[in-house]
Amino acid sequence: MAANKKLLILPGDGIGPEVMREVRRVIDWMDRRRIVTFDLSDDLVGGAAIDARGTPITSETVEKAKDADAVLFGSVGGPKWDHLGFQMRPELAILTLRKELDLFANLRPAIVLDPLVEASTLKPDVVRGLDLMIVRESTGGIYFGEPRGVETLPDGQQRGFDTESYTTSEIERVARVAFELARKRAARVCSVEKANVMMSGLFWRQTVTALHQREFADLELTHMYADNCAMQLVRNPKQFDVIVTSNIFGDLLSDLASMLTGSLGMLPSATLGAPDASGRRHALYEPIHGSAPDIAGKGVANPLAQILSFAMLLRYSFDMNDEAALIERACTNVLASGLRTADIMGPGTARVGTTVMGESILRELDKLAA
Ligand code: IPM
Ligand code: MG
Repeated sequence: MAANKKLLILPGDGIGPEVMREVRRVIDWMDRRRIVTFDLSDDLVGGAAIDARGTPITSETVEKAKDADAVLFGSVGGPKWDHLGFQMRPELAILTLRKELDLFANLRPAIVLDPLVEASTLKPDVVRGLDLMIVRESTGGIYFGEPRGVETLPDGQQRGFDTESYTTSEIERVARVAFELARKRAARVCSVEKANVMMSGLFWRQTVTALHQREFADLELTHMYADNCAMQLVRNPKQFDVIVTSNIFGDLLSDLASMLTGSLGMLPSATLGAPDASGRRHALYEPIHGSAPDIAGKGVANPLAQILSFAMLLRYSFDMNDEAALIERACTNVLASGLRTADIMGPGTARVGTTVMGESILRELDKLAA
């Protein structure tokens, strides 16, 4: 049996705690089966932490996250906390974790599972077999750039401003992650910016090109403007293998790409830091969907993205590829059997809630491991 691994669970708000409960059952299943035992702890983040502690994330929680081998994050936010202002946004929890743990590479896969081809709003032929990976820079750019603020001008009106900025090393380290991933996939990287409009975009393109020539000339590198990329993603998404882009463009394009698959409720993500000398790296895993306050507490949320985020955690943080594949297979099989949560319902399928979906995954795991 593998050694204990420190896992910090941060369910957050909205549907976060509900879908995380189903992951806990998968974790318990692995423990019972003596596949792996985690040293588990959990904590509050987002609105839940604001309510209990008056801040979206405490420094103790950040320290726990730094100390963990991996963090499994749910989702944060909701209308309840909207009035509290910019400094008290639940979203600060995830932004703080990305920044403090230096989690600069946000991996957002968009995969169309066969049983869900019909769930996409695009034609089946356009999306069948889709498997693309967006690598989004996640600790720099306009999300964190200085100066930012709102100032009063001499004529009395105000001006709001943010700064997009990227250094050589910030671009190189995220591009390197994209190239290394591509090497294990279809060997194609598309780098996305607005080099036709932004100086930082032109610099991004030049920096990625130079790195490619120096270290990754065996791979295909193309460049695309972000607006064109948005269009190409709905026109012919299968042209892409790995896309690498800035924080803000990655935010937009990954939401777009996720809908190619039919449901936000299906997609996991990983956010990775740089490996240290021993190969250990900070890493956080979260579903792409948000806290979905409109359906929270109703028992109807789709737990698959959270469960698949856990599978990604096994793969990227613990090299447990077989176990990750087992969980992914269980999810696909359950979908193939016709069970669906409300968000991915299709003709001839049976609607189930969060708990029944979770139980079905466990039953399928039992079968697969028998
Ligand atoms: C995401 C989310 C976050 C982001 C929010 C919650 C701050 O939209 O992870 O894509 O903009 O990065
Ligand atoms: Mg987003």
